[in-house]
Amino acid sequence: MPLDLDQQARDILKENDRGGYTVPTARLYPYQWNWDSAFVALGFATFDRARAWQELDLLLEGQWRDGMIPHIIFRRDDPDYFPGPSVWQAEGGNLPSGGISQPPVLASVILELVQTGDAADLERAEVMFDAVLKWHRWFHTARTPKGCPVVCTVHPWETGRDNCPDWELGFDRMEVDPDLEPYTRMDTVHADVSERPSKLQYDKYVTIIQFGRKVGWDQTRLTNEGPFLMADPGIHFILLRADRDLRVLAQRLGRDDAIRELDDFIAKGVKGTDYLWNADLNAFCARDVRSGVFSQGFSSASALPFYAGVGTPEQLEHTAQHLVRIGGKVDFLVPSWDPDADGFEPQRYWCGPVWPQMNNIISKGLAEQGQDALAQRVRSDLARAIETSGFFECFNSRTGAGCIGTNFSWTAAMWLAWASPNRKN
Ligand code: SER
Repeated sequence: MPLDLDQQARDILKENDRGGYTVPTARLYPYQWNWDSAFVALGFATFDRARAWQELDLLLEGQWRDGMIPHIIFRRDDPDYFPGPSVWQAEGGNLPSGGISQPPVLASVILELVQTGDAADLERAEVMFDAVLKWHRWFHTARTPKGCPVVCTVHPWETGRDNCPDWELGFDRMEVDPDLEPYTRMDTVHADVSERPSKLQYDKYVTIIQFGRKVGWDQTRLTNEGPFLMADPGIHFILLRADRDLRVLAQRLGRDDAIRELDDFIAKGVKGTDYLWNADLNAFCARDVRSGVFSQGFSSASALPFYAGVGTPEQLEHTAQHLVRIGGKVDFLVPSWDPDADGFEPQRYWCGPVWPQMNNIISKGLAEQGQDALAQRVRSDLARAIETSGFFECFNSRTGAGCIGTNFSWTAAMWLAWASPNRKN
């Protein structure tokens, strides 16, 4: 059975290949997505290393002149997706793209390819190094408002955790643009309405896009003057880990200049971590930057301090206890939202399903920090969901039923690179 699943996973990656880059799934997401591609490279690396590096090369082709690597690269216009390139009108690089970024897992993926590879892999990494460093610098400048101790986000889609109840805090403070252009959603044509974001959420997603267009996608203005500004433990912890991983790479490459800069980024990340500590909940939570108000639930991003190598022993102990509590409420860890908080829905996108790529990085961090039992459960719960339901985008955390996209690339990749029992980790 697992051997068949390995073959199915390889077939999915090949079927979703659009000529050097991979779509997350046919029709629903018909373009190249940023963090999807990074995770997908780990899957390709299990059977075709050249193709893994090519995925990352094509992702970097979308980089903007200011350093941002956008969340979507549009190599052609596809009527199956809204909002496409004509809505974004974001052309900060050589290819049409979205006007926001996504969690920066790329450096960590590159390091993993180097650590599991040979001299040729180090050469590939060397070519990419400066572009990735420039992207990290962009987060630490364009996405860091003056006086704010952490990197922030301007759009829920930038966090990758689109409709997580975390973002209702920022949404409550903003109005839908009275001049909102009429639009037709395509996601609800390809997926069940009960598993996707609401119309009001979409109106607000598009409102932020219209603001970005109005300021010509000036990213500093979008951060400082835009309608939405929140701090996300997901981006914070993933960037801190990526800064550390890029530093390891800088050492391998003898890049002393970059090491100094990365040390500053890492020091800033470590120092800023307490900004996200919600003492009422004893958890790292999303926070609205303009009001200072914390989100009141433990999301899957709250489970990432282990992965970032940060947090006091007490903070880490509380985080592990939350995972144990939540593990008693759902059959499959780690739900994207807290089953004890308002807004939990085990089947609705980022309101409660289990996400393959999140389980991967959460489990990796737990294992590195000696939380072996939890790390193992997070891995085997994902494997069980895939064995039960197949390669879905995400899984109902109560039943393991597959949700939304089918034949999904990052699910296949995470199976091959990590969750499959045939994989020796
Ligand atoms: N995940 C988003 C969507 O649902 C975009 O990044 O379209």
